[in-house]
Amino acid sequence: MQLSKESRIYVAGHRGLVGSAVVRALQQRGHRNLLCRSHEQLDLTDQAAVRRFFSDERPEAVILAAARVGGIHANNARPALFIRDNLVIQDNVIDAAYRSGVVKLVFLGSSCIYPKLAPQPIKEEYLLTGPLEPTNESYAVAKIAGVKMCQAYRREYGFNAISLMPTNLYGPGDNFDLLNSHVLPALIRRFHEAKLRGDPSVTVWGTGAPRREFLHVDDLADAVLYLLHSYDAEPIINIGWGQDVTIRELAELVLCAVGYRGRLVFDASKPDGTPRKLLDTTRLTGLGWKPRIPLKAGIQSTYAWFQEHAAEARL
Ligand SMILES: NC(=O)c1ccc[n+]([C@@H]2O[C@H](COP(=O)([O-])OP(=O)(O)OC[C@H]3O[C@@H](n4cnc5c(N)ncnc54)[C@H](OP(=O)(O)O)[C@@H]3O)[C@@H](O)[C@H]2O)c1
Repeated sequence: MQLSKESRIYVAGHRGLVGSAVVRALQQRGHRNLLCRSHEQLDLTDQAAVRRFFSDERPEAVILAAARVGGIHANNARPALFIRDNLVIQDNVIDAAYRSGVVKLVFLGSSCIYPKLAPQPIKEEYLLTGPLEPTNESYAVAKIAGVKMCQAYRREYGFNAISLMPTNLYGPGDNFDLLNSHVLPALIRRFHEAKLRGDPSVTVWGTGAPRREFLHVDDLADAVLYLLHSYDAEPIINIGWGQDVTIRELAELVLCAVGYRGRLVFDASKPDGTPRKLLDTTRLTGLGWKPRIPLKAGIQSTYAWFQEHAAEARL
């Protein structure tokens, strides 16, 4: 789709990790007509309010980065909340966008939509080929429904909705709450606090051997805008760095970035989780996009952001 600097673009979830990065990227490119509403101003589970917003504001493009998101603990403890909120948010936004004449919508899914035991690296066509990881099944089922809704609206109504599946993301604005956060921000916070207290060691669960992939959220935002402009088709697209690291390598990178001088200890009596999770990004690179921010530099800048924003960060 062709967007001008004046195009009305609605970024749903603009205060979150992904939404705030998309807003930064749009502003850097000179877009002046961004529509943003906080959760308090517009509850996306309220269908009447969402329809009113779309018919009043008439956005041309929508980035749907609002979702109920959480770590393994929150997902496991609140499956009803996660499936209900995510189904309702995406149903309200996608349908209202179509009805109000939005030209293009980008739906953000997640790598957890793929089967727990999918072959690695994970290709887009592995979707719905096996059982999901039980701990976040509710969230994943909602996201799969979002993908299918976008595809159905494209087929039946010709609505230009695309679905992108990012790998694990990190960066400024991340959630550093230890109960509810992902592994990378949790490690940043734990090493930081251990450094301040002068703790002799930090213990990380598991053997450190599992492999995971991480993408800086500014790279993700760049990919979202690239595909908003250039990709108009039904197949989902994985968005990742293309290579993974072990949890030990990740912890060592965070330890160095934080400048923690104590020891890193792995508690092998604790569960490791899935041995490997890496997205196949052949489809994405074939469309002409590549990530730019290496993990080491990305962790350093995220730690700098964390230090500067400790007061307002989600702790
Ligand atoms: N973070 C990752 O590693 C990752 C990886 C892959 C995919 N993704 C996908 O990217 C998307 C955004 O994730 P994120 O990490 O940016 O999450 P996030 O930081 O938690 O942001 C989500 C945003 O959605 C808003 N929101 C939630 N419920 C709402 C509601 N009922 N009405 C209005 N706004 C609501 C939140 O506002 P409040 O905080 O005020 O509720 C928040 O600003 C999700 O679809 C997620 O699946 C994320």
